[in-house]
Amino acid sequence: MVAVAILAAGRGTRMKSDLPKVLHELGSASLVERVLESSLSLKPLRRLVIVGYRGDLVKETLAEVDKAEPTLEFVEQKQQLGTGHAIQQLLPHLEGFTGDLLVLNGDVPLLRPETLEQLMELHKQNQNEATILTAHLPNPQGYGRVFCNSHNVVKQIVEHRDCTKAQRQNHRINAGVYCFNWPALAKILPELKADNDQQEYYLTDTVKYLKPVMAVDVDDFQEIIGVNNRKHLAQAYEILQVRVKDKWMAAGVTMIDPDSTTIDDRVVLEPDAVIEPQTHLRGNTFIGSGSRIGPGTSIENSHIGKDVKVLYSVVSDSAVADGSSIGPYAHLRGHAEVGANCRVGNFVELKNTKMGDRAAAAHLSYLGDATLGEKVNIGAGTITANYDGTNKHPTKRGSRSKTGSNSVLVAPVTLGEDVNVAAGSIVTEDVPDDSLVIARSRQTVKPGWRLKESSSSAED
Ligand code: UD1
Ligand code: CA
Repeated sequence: MVAVAILAAGRGTRMKSDLPKVLHELGSASLVERVLESSLSLKPLRRLVIVGYRGDLVKETLAEVDKAEPTLEFVEQKQQLGTGHAIQQLLPHLEGFTGDLLVLNGDVPLLRPETLEQLMELHKQNQNEATILTAHLPNPQGYGRVFCNSHNVVKQIVEHRDCTKAQRQNHRINAGVYCFNWPALAKILPELKADNDQQEYYLTDTVKYLKPVMAVDVDDFQEIIGVNNRKHLAQAYEILQVRVKDKWMAAGVTMIDPDSTTIDDRVVLEPDAVIEPQTHLRGNTFIGSGSRIGPGTSIENSHIGKDVKVLYSVVSDSAVADGSSIGPYAHLRGHAEVGANCRVGNFVELKNTKMGDRAAAAHLSYLGDATLGEKVNIGAGTITANYDGTNKHPTKRGSRSKTGSNSVLVAPVTLGEDVNVAAGSIVTEDVPDDSLVIARSRQTVKPGWRLKESSSSAED
């Protein structure tokens, strides 16, 4: 029987931010969401989040993530008097609970689920009153130091700021991940004293009262990085990025220059996708096999099929089917849907527009709220005037219709199949199938006009 408690009440002063530290984003998820995710595989009976600074915001954000099947319980720590004081707030909530309590700092976002499983396993096997996760860090600055005997039995944990010079030489640090036998912890929690440099109640002091307390080293110390400031946040992001990119390269994705590329951990890539330099893939994005993305491309919450090329372009909340080519310098947004084998070229913007298979818009266009049939060809400079100042209106284009350069389609308007629009037309009315529409004033030519004009001005 396991309950999980996440410490998320602190402001995180060192972040210099109004936003509670645990809500700062690391890639596609906040720090505390990542901590919650890392403990999911333990199938905890209860999940308690201790909130304080801007607690309503933390609650709201997590409740949104948890809304499918709400199981999170929120416990308020009105004043943030330290990590031990935070856990004291659980006493009324966990009355009668006889299992183990896994405590996780809300700012340790890179923990692997296997690490937590191993910690819990060892805790059970040894029937410890507490088992804590430790690491040997090359630079242990800021972390609590863990002092053990030769059998990994913990004697004390001393915060960096409370350490003597000699104690600071110990590079074995407290990761902020603890498994406690709850009844044993509950009994001694009221004993904690705030006799330290910060005058806070430290959870780490509980090891003095419990027996036995064991330390377990993590294999990869990068997992336990605690985020206290923006520099740590950037370091954590770098670690996460290496993990994500290594995973996809091992799965058969080519990355031309991984260092200049960022990929959220929710992104899914198929083998033989090629990611060119300066490319950023965010949110729920999928890239099919054989597609070549970048250089210089940003794609967010979008589905890109197989064998698609996207060059120097921005794509968000959109989909591109197999074999299409996007860019250079195209912008797809607001649920644009590009069919198979389409071409969306230089300086073309698509918003909430559906393009049938083999359609093309190769140059300089804005297509908003439009539905284009198969093989529609959009001439250079074609614009859908979809906004009348108050409302947006749709444009419909039948298959194989073509627009000449610089046409304006004033929505709402429907053009049938096989319609041709003459260059420079401003189309304001519907056009039936198989028609040619010319909607511009006829050209007038006045021969000899310049000579007449100049002689008349000489008389003035
Ligand atoms: C803590 C540990 C330290 C360890 C490090 C690992 C203590 C006393 N120290 O230090 O030994 O090496 O984590 O990252 O525990 N929080 C509350 N209520 C409070 C205070 C803090 O909920 O009153 C929460 C914070 O929001 C944060 C977590 O507890 O998520 C840790 O607090 P933080 O101030 O970052 O502790 P550290 O100084 O990093
Ligand atoms: Ca911390």
